[in-house]
Amino acid sequence: MTDEKLRMACVIGDPVAQSRSPLIHGYWLRKHGIAGDYRRELVKGADLKAFLADMPRRGYVGCNVTMPHKLAVMALSQPDARAKAIGAANAMWFDKAGVLRSTNTDVLGILGNLDAATPGWDKGLADAVVFGAGGAGRAAVYGLVERKIPRIRLVNRTLTKAEEFRQRFGPSVLPAAWEDRQRALAGAGLVLNATSCGMAGNPELDIDLAPVRDDCVVNDIVYVPLVTGLLAKAERRGLRIADGLGMLLHQAVYGFELWYGIRPAVTPELRQIIVDELLKKK
Ligand code: ATR
Repeated sequence: MTDEKLRMACVIGDPVAQSRSPLIHGYWLRKHGIAGDYRRELVKGADLKAFLADMPRRGYVGCNVTMPHKLAVMALSQPDARAKAIGAANAMWFDKAGVLRSTNTDVLGILGNLDAATPGWDKGLADAVVFGAGGAGRAAVYGLVERKIPRIRLVNRTLTKAEEFRQRFGPSVLPAAWEDRQRALAGAGLVLNATSCGMAGNPELDIDLAPVRDDCVVNDIVYVPLVTGLLAKAERRGLRIADGLGMLLHQAVYGFELWYGIRPAVTPELRQIIVDELLKKK
């Protein structure tokens, strides 16, 4: 079979070598017997527009978008409501009319991971605490607003960014200063780290989980290391956890579905493939 007959997708970024997406999508393509391929494409900012325009000719049905292009692609495609609300897109596809459309699958990744790892996490949930008001924080807050969580305390080192979130996402978002992070945790039923704290080489998220509810769920978007200091603390406290690798895998589900028309499953086998890869890299 020639490349022209393959339904191809890719991840575009600069750099792009670190992306684990080819492993994930390659696994699903094999699993479903789809004649497709998923590649890494190193695309410089200056070449982005031309690359996107040339994708159909090269057999691409869509792509993931990683840094630094998540914002730039918004103006070069038709973003959906979710991408517009978040202000960034990470997945794109050509519709039947050949129009390049974009969305943000991080929201579904965060919610899908929580649903799978900690079922019922949002049932009766009144107080959530999100750390981080970057791109991941936006996706997390958007998802929690979508699930109608009444109070979402948003703690960020730069308070003005958290205040902007309230403007953008509404009054359920309650901005809190970094110095008040410990107080923000009182009675929390969900704690979600969307900062880069706890990532290998970065400082830990220095919080004490004593004041949260006993049925609190703790979610970290950081997946290197797989068990962050925060998740280890949560486990010691006997809390349910959802890890960052789960989010990475779940956000990939929706891109695959857009390109190949099948919603793939996040299986223990797939998870192990990525775990092995992460451990190999260390
Ligand atoms: P991403 O798109 O992955 O969310 P980002 O937009 O760079 O990345 O956001 C990183 C988040 O981690 C921000 O909330 C950042 O806080 P600021 O908005 O104040 O920059 C937070 N962050 C990074 N390093 C931090 C640290 N040492 N302490 C506290 N917060 C930190």
